[in-house]
Amino acid sequence: MANNADAQDGNGHDKEGKASFDDIYDGADPRGYFETLWRLDYRAPQNGYLFFPALVQEKQRLLDGRNEVVTVVDLACSYGVNGALLKYDVTLHDLYERYRSEELAGLSSEEMAAADAEFYRSRKREASPKVVGIDVAENAILYALRIGLMDEGFAENLEEDEPTDALGKAVAAADLLVVTGGIGYVGEGTFDRLLGRMTEEGNTPWVATFPTRMVDYGPITELLLRYGLLTEKLPERTFPQRRFESADEQEYVLGELESMGINPDGREAAGYYHSEFYLSRPPKQASEVPIEELVGVSLEDAL
Ligand SMILES: C[S@@+](CC[C@H](N)C(=O)[O-])C[C@H]1O[C@@H](n2cnc3c(N)ncnc32)[C@H](O)[C@@H]1O
Repeated sequence: MANNADAQDGNGHDKEGKASFDDIYDGADPRGYFETLWRLDYRAPQNGYLFFPALVQEKQRLLDGRNEVVTVVDLACSYGVNGALLKYDVTLHDLYERYRSEELAGLSSEEMAAADAEFYRSRKREASPKVVGIDVAENAILYALRIGLMDEGFAENLEEDEPTDALGKAVAAADLLVVTGGIGYVGEGTFDRLLGRMTEEGNTPWVATFPTRMVDYGPITELLLRYGLLTEKLPERTFPQRRFESADEQEYVLGELESMGINPDGREAAGYYHSEFYLSRPPKQASEVPIEELVGVSLEDAL
């Protein structure tokens, strides 16, 4: 399946003025991806990891003693970095070091995959969720599956097509849908198609995302409400996502933010995209455990 991400860059909008990374999203192995994103200090998966373990833990508690493993759906998952952080004892920094190391630079993709399978095997976390990945980049999905960063993976484009039955089945009982660096590539259409399948057997997943500040998240919020999920934004905090790739890109984003009435001082004006954390849950669960409490401990540890 082709990667048809066009001119988008994972920060929200399919617009001119934004850098395009299509050429690194679907390589035979992730070295190009990490090399390019390291240069831009891309941090989205590590931002996600600030909160995702707490959400997995809370979902496990809500399973009420049922001896089930929490299932996380990682949408726009690329090579499965969120899965890597959840399932293995590694940080994003470790992965940047690994995939940029001179020692591994000469390996073929085949040899890289064999080395990776070994690397991750020895770092498995004792308790970890099941991860189902979805991305349009077929090579990235195949690589992640092969080395164990996700349990199931699907190269599908839900912006354009209905989920296959296999994907529908894999997400039907999932507990948590996460997106890092992907809102904008995926919008209401994808969420509608996916949530339709995730909720059709009476399941109520949570949705946790980090859109950049220039994304209008309102339409997705409204869509999620139709599936019985109330969306809250973690107040006051923003999360540096990556450095601007050029002065032109920064200027473009500052213009977008100005038109949205958002003050960029100390954030985008200082050279980085910033994202915000949104969590969507059934209203009753949201009122029982406030968002700050749910992620509070991790927040204290944050940057
Ligand atoms: C900036 S990367 C984020 C990857 C990963 N979540 C992370 O944070 O490392 C954006 C990803 O969105 C994927 N993408 C683009 N269009 C998509 C679509 N319609 N459906 C699913 N994934 C898409 C790209 O292939 C790419 O892997």
